[in-house]
Amino acid sequence: MALCWSVPVGTGRHWSAPVGAGRRQERTEPLPADLAVLGLGRTGLPLAQAATATGIGVIGYEPDPEAAAHINAGRVPPGTLAAADLRRMLACGFRATSDPAVLGRVRTAVICAPTPLAEAADGGALDLTAVAAAARTLAAHLRPHTTVILESAVYPGTTEEFLRPLLEAEGLRAGRDFHLAYSPSRLDPGNRDFHLANTPKVVGGCTSACTEAAAAFYGRLTERVVRARGVREAEAVKLLETNYRHVNIAFANEMAVFCHDIGVDLWDVIRCAETKPFGFQPFRPGPGVGGHAAALDPNAAPHFVAGRPRTPGHPLRMVEHAQEVNGRMPRYVVQRAATLLNEHGKSLRGARVLLLGVTYKADLADQEGSPAREIGRRLIELGAQLGYHDPYVPQWRVLDRPVPRADRLWEAAAEADLTLLLQHHRTYDLQGLAVKAQLLLDTRGATPAGTAARL
Ligand SMILES: NC(=O)c1ccc[n+]([C@@H]2O[C@H](COP(=O)([O-])OP(=O)(O)OC[C@H]3O[C@@H](n4cnc5c(N)ncnc54)[C@H](O)[C@@H]3O)[C@@H](O)[C@H]2O)c1
Repeated sequence: MALCWSVPVGTGRHWSAPVGAGRRQERTEPLPADLAVLGLGRTGLPLAQAATATGIGVIGYEPDPEAAAHINAGRVPPGTLAAADLRRMLACGFRATSDPAVLGRVRTAVICAPTPLAEAADGGALDLTAVAAAARTLAAHLRPHTTVILESAVYPGTTEEFLRPLLEAEGLRAGRDFHLAYSPSRLDPGNRDFHLANTPKVVGGCTSACTEAAAAFYGRLTERVVRARGVREAEAVKLLETNYRHVNIAFANEMAVFCHDIGVDLWDVIRCAETKPFGFQPFRPGPGVGGHAAALDPNAAPHFVAGRPRTPGHPLRMVEHAQEVNGRMPRYVVQRAATLLNEHGKSLRGARVLLLGVTYKADLADQEGSPAREIGRRLIELGAQLGYHDPYVPQWRVLDRPVPRADRLWEAAAEADLTLLLQHHRTYDLQGLAVKAQLLLDTRGATPAGTAARL
């Protein structure tokens, strides 16, 4: 029998000061779990795992019965957990369900529904459809005293102006009958040093009692809970943290283009600059920005922004500019590839180009938003013969066509007219590659100086 984590379930330690009675009956039936996580993806499943690991009884809600059945059978959704973690959770009583009735019998419900960016043609704002669906499902079963927390990435104002009315649709009132708070998800996929337990958790509620209820819940999972002044401040933390990354990468990307133009080795500049012990945090350029944390541009959805009549008088120009700069990088990389070939008497048309690393992050299989796809598409459109190598990606398609996969890396690099390093997976021996490749363009500054062309 698998050993479960040892803290007793249902101790009620996070059961906060009662809020006023609602129109529904107090609970009489036993609680099926302390916690319901709505949305068992990259954010929700690790949260459910962390809670299960501390002895909290957890139920996971997934609207798709097939997805829930897969999880219950021990099959992990991509990019979420290790299979062994899920098996352990299941052994400790965790279950996924698509039956919303369970949501009416938990103490805390955390919404981790997806908020993808809509197409630019549709305004490019966060799509809150799934959050709305999750909220309606929860509202239909919500009981007094429940603590509801939103973790999905949203614009400031969304919890109060968008989520709250949906949750209150059945008559209960946030801050009076149930607690409502926002807490930004701070996951960093693949990070071996930081996880939920040792990453401070920011919470902000609609009232101070809401903040305390959310803080008491997360206090069971993490070493440090940081209380924001309110729900909008907590939402704005997400805005600040996410855009901080995008804006700084954009600046590094602008510097890369600028330094190349004036014949300066930016990687050497960064190496020197990062020795400054204060006031500087190094960011590195790259072929584009991928991942799950898209830049949050509140200008894209002014109707969700806090204090509607006051906005969007002062748009976040830096965010807009960062998106533009980062969005241009795949095209710039292709331009640099063409120039490099040209300098060696070759044309991109007909050239064999080998892409190394097509995932969005090193040492992970996740391809979400990876710039490799746009780079591959542009290269094909310009007549290159494309091949790729990635230890984490067995098959890869561009323009709906399979791209040939190189199994023998060094031979493939020797045969290719140009090898383009897009992702620096740890397994790549770059010194060896630089020797083998006819031409190597390194977009990650990972090759030793002087051995390859670098972004
Ligand atoms: N993945 C990350 O690294 C990361 C980091 C920070 C913040 N976030 C944010 O967290 C939120 C969730 O992202 P994710 O990466 O976990 O997404 P995901 O796509 O991996 O998972 C979302 C899950 O929610 C489920 N779902 C869809 N509609 C639902 C509904 N109506 N009710 C309940 N569940 C529903 C989906 O089936 C899926 O399993 C997003 O807002 C995202 O921006 C993600």
